[in-house]
Amino acid sequence: MNPSVHIPIMAEPILAAFKEGLEKFSGNVVLIDATFGGGGHTGIFLRDLPSRVKILALDQDEGPILRGQTQFKDEIASGRLHLKHINFGDLTRDEFPEALRNLPLGAILADLGFSSDQLEDPERGISFQREGPLDMRLNRQKGATAWDVVHELSERELADIIYKYGEERMSRKISMLIKSAIRSKTLENSTTALASLVERAFPPKLRHGRIHAATRTFQALRIFVNQELGALENLLGSVILNLDPGGRAAILSFHSLEDRAVKLAFREREIWRALTKKPIEADEAELERNSRSRSAKLRIAEKL
Ligand SMILES: C[S@@+](CC[C@H](N)C(=O)[O-])C[C@H]1O[C@@H](n2cnc3c(N)ncnc32)[C@H](O)[C@@H]1O
Repeated sequence: MNPSVHIPIMAEPILAAFKEGLEKFSGNVVLIDATFGGGGHTGIFLRDLPSRVKILALDQDEGPILRGQTQFKDEIASGRLHLKHINFGDLTRDEFPEALRNLPLGAILADLGFSSDQLEDPERGISFQREGPLDMRLNRQKGATAWDVVHELSERELADIIYKYGEERMSRKISMLIKSAIRSKTLENSTTALASLVERAFPPKLRHGRIHAATRTFQALRIFVNQELGALENLLGSVILNLDPGGRAAILSFHSLEDRAVKLAFREREIWRALTKKPIEADEAELERNSRSRSAKLRIAEKL
C-alpha cells in the first residue's frame, strides 16, 4: 500500500505553542510526538524548530515506524530524530533512547486515533465502507481482534461497550442481533456484513441519517479493541507528567470521550496552566483541505 500524504491537523497553533514553550529551555531538549503516523507533525517540527530540539516519535503500529525510518533516515542518522514502536501509554523514562534520557522534556504532542492509511487498509477492518475481516487492531502483533471480542463478551457486556464507547442508544438491540447471528452461525467475519447487521437494529427511517448507522458501533469496537481510553488515561495520568516545568502538552482528540478526559486532566490547577480555555477547532480553510479535521479538538497546557 502506498501511504498517502498525511496532512497534519492544526499544525500552526501546535507549532506556535511549542516554539514559545521550548524557548524557555536552554540547550538540548526533547519533544515527543506520541503518534508519529504519517510523520506530518514530526516533519514540521524537524523543519521549523531549532536543531537543539531532539524528537522522540512513537507509534504502536509498526508500519508507520518502518516507513519513517526510510523517510527520515538522515535525521535519524544525525541523532535529531528517534523512532520507537511502542504504545504511548507504556512510555516511561527507561524507554527513552539513551541519548535522550538525561535531557529535559519540553513538549509532547498526541494526535489521537488512527490515520487515513489505517482506515483505508481493508485488511485492518476499521472501516465499514471497505470489505475486510473484523480485526481493528492498530498493533497487529498483539491483543484480541473485534471478531474475538464479539464472540468472547456476553450480550450484556457487548451492549455496555457499544453504549459506553459509541454512545449508541440502540446498543442493546445491536448486541442482541450480533449474538443471535453468532448462535445461528450466520455472523460473517466481514466489516460490511457487520455494518448491514447493525443497520437492521434501526427502524428504516433512522437508517440513513447524516452518519452511517454503523458508525458508533464501529467506533466503540475499535476503542475497546485498542484499549484507547486506557492508553489515554496513562498518557494523561503519568506520561505527560514527565514534562519538565514549563513544558507543554498538546492533545488532539476526535470524540467527546477523549476530549472530556483531556479537559479533566488539564483542570488539575496545581499541575497545569491550561493555554486553551476552550478547545481550538480547525478553521474554514483547514476544514476544506482536510475532512479529518472536522471533529478535531485541540487542547494545550503548560506544566507548572
Ligand atoms: C492520526 S495518526 C497521526 C498522524 C500524525 N500526527 C501525522 O501528522 O502524520 C495517529 C497515529 O497514532 C498511532 N496511535 C494511536 N494510538 C496510539 C497509542 N496508544 N500509542 C502509540 N501510537 C498510537 C496510530 O497507529 C496512528 O499511526
